[in-house]
Parts: sequence; C-alpha cells; structure tokens
Amino acid sequence: MLKDLKLLYMSEQEIINSIQERKLSVCVVGLGRIGLPTAISFANAGLNTFGIDIDTELISKIKSNNFPLKDEPGYGFIFESLIKEGKLKVSTNFEDIITKSDIIILTLPTPINNQNVPDYSAITTVGKQLHDLIDKGTIIIVESTIEPGFIENTLVKILEGEDKKNRVGKDFGLGVCPETANPGQIKNDFENLPRLVGAVDNKTKIIITKIYNHVFPVEIIPMKDCKTANAVKLTTNVFRDLNIAFVNELAILFEKVGINIVDVLNAAKTKYNFQVHYPGPGVGGPCLPVNSYQMINLAKTWGFETLQMADISRKINESMPDHVIELLKDAFKEKEQNIENSNILVLGISYKPDVKDIQLSPAEPIISKLKELKTNISIYDPYFKNQLVFGINTESEFLSKVSKSDAIIIITAHKEFYNIDPEFLKSKMRGTIIIDSKYVINQDSAKKVGLIYRGIGCGKI
Ligand SMILES: NC(=O)c1ccc[n+]([C@@H]2O[C@H](COP(=O)([O-])OP(=O)(O)OC[C@H]3O[C@@H](n4cnc5c(N)ncnc54)[C@H](O)[C@@H]3O)[C@@H](O)[C@H]2O)c1
Repeated sequence: MLKDLKLLYMSEQEIINSIQERKLSVCVVGLGRIGLPTAISFANAGLNTFGIDIDTELISKIKSNNFPLKDEPGYGFIFESLIKEGKLKVSTNFEDIITKSDIIILTLPTPINNQNVPDYSAITTVGKQLHDLIDKGTIIIVESTIEPGFIENTLVKILEGEDKKNRVGKDFGLGVCPETANPGQIKNDFENLPRLVGAVDNKTKIIITKIYNHVFPVEIIPMKDCKTANAVKLTTNVFRDLNIAFVNELAILFEKVGINIVDVLNAAKTKYNFQVHYPGPGVGGPCLPVNSYQMINLAKTWGFETLQMADISRKINESMPDHVIELLKDAFKEKEQNIENSNILVLGISYKPDVKDIQLSPAEPIISKLKELKTNISIYDPYFKNQLVFGINTESEFLSKVSKSDAIIIITAHKEFYNIDPEFLKSKMRGTIIIDSKYVINQDSAKKVGLIYRGIGCGKI
C-alpha cells in the first residue's frame, strides 16, 4: 500500500531516506508535451510514478507503449522500458491515483481564450478535485505557466476550500517549479536548464528542492516565493516576444530602405551585449504569445490600462502574417500575374522548426488570407502529412505540388527545407515566386537562377 508518508512533517533526513529507499510516490497531472517527459524523469529516477490525463485516447496510447511525442528525441527507449516494467503507470482515474500520491505535480494547459484572456480553468478544476481528495502532508507543485499571484490569490483558496478542510503549510504544502523547457529538446533542457522553486512555506520549498535535486541533474534555485518564480518564467518569454517584435518592425523598415536585416543582425551580434533575435512570419506556440497576454492580464489586474511594451509587441508580431501576404502580392505584381486562382504551395505549418505543433501558428492566419485571395492552396509539412489541417488536405511529399506551383511560401524552417536547391525549384516550378519568411533558401543563389525572392526584411533582390 503506497502513501503512508507525510512529507510535509518529515525531517530532511527522512525525506532523503524516502527518496533513496524509493518509497515516495508522485503523480503528474496532464501528460502532454511537458507532463509526460516529467513523469518519465520521475519514474526513471526510481520514484513510484503515476500519470493522469482526461484524454482517454492518449492514456490508451501510453498504456500500449506507443510514445506520443515522436518529435522529442531521447525518450523512446526509456519510455518503452518504464511502461514495460510497470514503473510508469497512467490512468484517467483521478481519485484512485491522487489518494496514493505523496507529491502531485500539475502540468496542465494554461492557454488564452479567443479574447486573449488567460484561461486557468484546467488548474482550477483539478484544484477543486484535490481539495476533496488530498491527504494530510501531501505536496502540490505547479509546473504550468501561470501569472504571478495566481497561487497566492486563487489556488490556495481553492485547495483550502471554504470549509478550510486543508490549510496550506499545515495540512499540505504548495509550491511552483515553472517549466522552461523548449519543445523538440525537452530532454536536453531537463538535463541542462536550472530550475526555479518557489513555495508558500519554507518547508515545502526545501522538500521540492531536495526531490528535484534527486530527479534532475541541474541547479535548483530556490526563489523567495511562488510569485517571484512565476515572474521569472514570464519575464524570459515576454523578453523574447518583445525582441522579436523589435526586429520584425525593423525588418519592414529596412525592406523600404534597401538594407538586408540578416546582414545587420549577423554583424550586430558580434557586439557582446547584443542578444540576437530574427524576424519571422509571426510568433506562435503555447508559450510566447500566451505569456505576453498573461503579463498584460497581470498589469490589468493591478489597475494598469495595459502593459504597453508587451501590448505593442503582440500587435506587431500578430501583424506579420499580413506582411507575408504583402510580400506575396508584391512579387505577383512584379511578375505581372494575377494572384487570384494562382497555385500556392505552403511549406511548413508548425509554429516552430522540427516540432509537430500548430498551436497559434502564424500559418493559420496566412492560410486564411490566402483563401480570401481565392488562391489554390497546397500544404506540405513533414510533421503533418496526409491530414486535414486548416481545412486543407496536406500533401504526403514535398515534390507532389512543386511543378504546379506559381509561388512557394516557407513559413517554418524545418531541417528538411534547408536541402531545397533554388536551381531545382526554378527548373520544376510553374512559376518563379519564393516567399521565404525564415531565410531557408540562399538568397544569392535564388537571384542567380532567376527566382523572384522575397524574405522578411530582405527587400527585393
Ligand atoms: N509546450 C511547451 O513548450 C511548454 C514549455 C514550458 C512550459 N509550458 C507550460 O506547461 C503547461 C503544460 O503545457 P503542455 O504544452 O504540456 O500542454 P499540453 O496541451 O501538451 O498537455 C496538457 C495535458 O493536460 C491534459 N489535461 C487537460 N485538462 C486536464 C484535467 N482537467 N485533468 C487531467 N489532464 C488534463 C490534456 O489532455 C493534455 O494531455 C502549460 O502551462 C504551458 O504553458 C509549456
């Protein structure tokens, strides 16, 4: 029978012993991009590990030893052996598992709704279930990205409940360890990036630090409190959103002036205090855009009209799909060809290279604008073959639509696209237009073979 430990009341030595004797049991709630690798890490470190998800299809996939994150290198073999040996058990049955767990880790989604307002309902829903189910001494850790203050002002109240059945710091411990890993390299980041730990009470902070020190071979940095740890996570991502907006705005200016932004950035980054960011068709994914809106929401909660820098950056980055379309229209104008009824091949729809993920991808607004222009759209993405995406059946191979294309738009810099030879395109395509929003095609070679090339911030060549 598991769960006889009362972590919150144990001495440091008892905690270390329970880790070494493999008595601790952990439950990871939400087995997605972050949760499943997290569960694997805990199971691999010898802790009794359970995973819970509401997605029944995902749970059956995991149970049948089919690793769902094919774009995350390094996990296949470890996952298979953990499942085979019964060291990682998963279920949709919340009650059964929560009551057996000493530590509960929340890796639940925290998206924005269609008004760009953060949606924490997955955490609040699970929080209510935890209020009813947790045993004395349990430690709850939130790894999801949340606004500073969400733990202190919202989650504590939910977990304690109106009945004050559980009191934070007395009956249960609550802390955060915001996840900062990058999709496509989660294992590498888990093994290299320092982790921040904050907690409502000091004992919980010590417990989380000890346990994460055992599981992850990285520096564990204790923070003053939960809100400071969460503020760090948001600050790093809003910083990136802001910097990308800056270079996107410059890119549009430089196109007019006839300066190639890539030349500028590559030279600028030789200066020690310049951190380079590159322009692109927009900023997607479950992190950067969402995190800027979380920070804006925080500002509004505190009586600010908005957070100006984040707000303007969002506007710039969200306008980039329009700019991609402007480049396309301009190229058609140069070619003196009507864009209506033309055949456009879109290469890459993921929001990020070499990852199977289209959440908030700029590909979506670009494709919907192409539809408005009445073009015939084909899509090729090595991670989305032969399936219906954005209302279009995707191609199974790159070559299938090249010969019929009047224009190609590259949205994602997947590795596979770097092999594309401009001379090959010129010889195979029906048209000559290349809109390269990620600098995948060599511009000089494109020019030499007679392609009409447009890159963001590269102007006409
Ligand atoms: N993906 C990233 O790049 C990344 C990086 C750092 C931090 N984060 C943060 O980590 C958190 C998780 O993100 P993710 O990308 O892993 O999300 P995800 O969408 O890949 O996975 C979330 C999982 O939670 C499950 N779920 C939803 N509601 C549930 C409930 N009530 N009970 C149990 N399971 C439930 C979903 O079915 C899904 O499998 C988010 O806060 C995100 O911002 C994500």
